[in-house]
Amino acid sequence: MPEKESEEPMEVGSNEKDNNDDVIVVSSSDAEVAVVGEDKDKSAKSSSSSSKSGKGGKSGDASLLPWVEKYRPAVLGDLISHQDITSTIQKFIDMDQLPHLLFYGPPGTGKTSTILALVKQLYPKDYQSQVLELNASDDRGINVVRETIVGFASTRTMFNKKFKFVILDEADAMTNDAQNALRRVMEKYTENTRFCLICNYLSKIIPAIQSRCTRFRFGPLSADQMMPRIQHVIDSENVTVTEDGLNAILSLATGDMRRSLNILQSCATAYKTVDEESVYICTGNPSKQDINSIVQWLLNKDFSSCVDGIHDFCSIKGYSLQDIVTQVHLYCVKIDFPHSVKCKLLSKMADIEERLLGGASEFLQLTALVASFTSARHEAIELAATS
Ligand SMILES: Nc1ncnc2c1ncn2[C@@H]1O[C@H](COP(=O)(O)OP(=O)(O)OP(=O)(O)O)[C@@H](O)[C@H]1O
Ligand SMILES: [Mg+2]
Repeated sequence: MPEKESEEPMEVGSNEKDNNDDVIVVSSSDAEVAVVGEDKDKSAKSSSSSSKSGKGGKSGDASLLPWVEKYRPAVLGDLISHQDITSTIQKFIDMDQLPHLLFYGPPGTGKTSTILALVKQLYPKDYQSQVLELNASDDRGINVVRETIVGFASTRTMFNKKFKFVILDEADAMTNDAQNALRRVMEKYTENTRFCLICNYLSKIIPAIQSRCTRFRFGPLSADQMMPRIQHVIDSENVTVTEDGLNAILSLATGDMRRSLNILQSCATAYKTVDEESVYICTGNPSKQDINSIVQWLLNKDFSSCVDGIHDFCSIKGYSLQDIVTQVHLYCVKIDFPHSVKCKLLSKMADIEERLLGGASEFLQLTALVASFTSARHEAIELAATS
């Protein structure tokens, strides 16, 4: 572990702006604000950012924070799953051999939380002067690398042997020029500075940067892993949640802990009891019963009455066809169609979803969905007759 020093660290180097008073700290969450010099206090109050959640939680009124921030893990031990990652990083720290890090994986899986807990553990007192945090809300061009990052990394801390830390959150939003410029900077200042890059899409990070870092993948969290953490929030907030309500939250969250906490909070605000129905209504997702009815129509009604039926149903309930396709797809996997018919149907549904995401007409895609089911039914009947 790096030594702890009681003296206030003193910076020397090429960029005189980067002294302790003017250190640039940019937060990581959705309400990010650049904090420079005297604006620091103001932003600390206004932002619910994670970099300040450790501090901000104390200075602000925690009850006003969204639950995702209020329950952001403060120490590595609070993180659910990814124990292999946290223990590996802990070993690096214990051996004083922390490499440059690259965290990647889908949203809401704990990447930002992990690095924030780590730097808070590494720099309990001098976080503000030792850590530079940049994210997608900041300029991600080459100038940030040349000025902000080089300015921060090139200054040395006297009386303090600890290395500095640069967190580049949402690094996949950095331009290629900026990433190329970062290659040399990472090497040149390795003695003094460690980098942690965080992204959702690894393919958007140039190979040269990837090879300079130790990579860690944060996979989607399983329902079993999310359950104890969400239960902890339910207990702390005194929310009444039924078992089917909890299961609905976990299934809609699809491995994203942030989404599960957001759904829980909005349902708890809107309803006294969070049950399955309230979760589906609150999130605007079609309920299981509704999807059941739609699947029955698709499997049994004739083409035109099925199109009209689903169209009217969606208009009344306010569902988008995309939500219907996603949920119907889950049923399709279980339908007792011959294998070849099922494969064709699923592939057609995937095409419909892609076209919907591309902005195609909902009504036209609805007819395509009904047509796919109608031909699947005919094919299944023909196959059954010939076999
Ligand atoms: N592994 C985890 N353990 C406990 N809480 C978690 C975990 N992952 C996410 N959360 C919760 O979800 C919130 C968001 O997590 P975080 O910001 O770390 O996600 P992320 O992986 O950085 O997502 P993104 O890629 O969208 O930036 C946290 O504030 C925390 O409440
Ligand atoms: Mg993040």
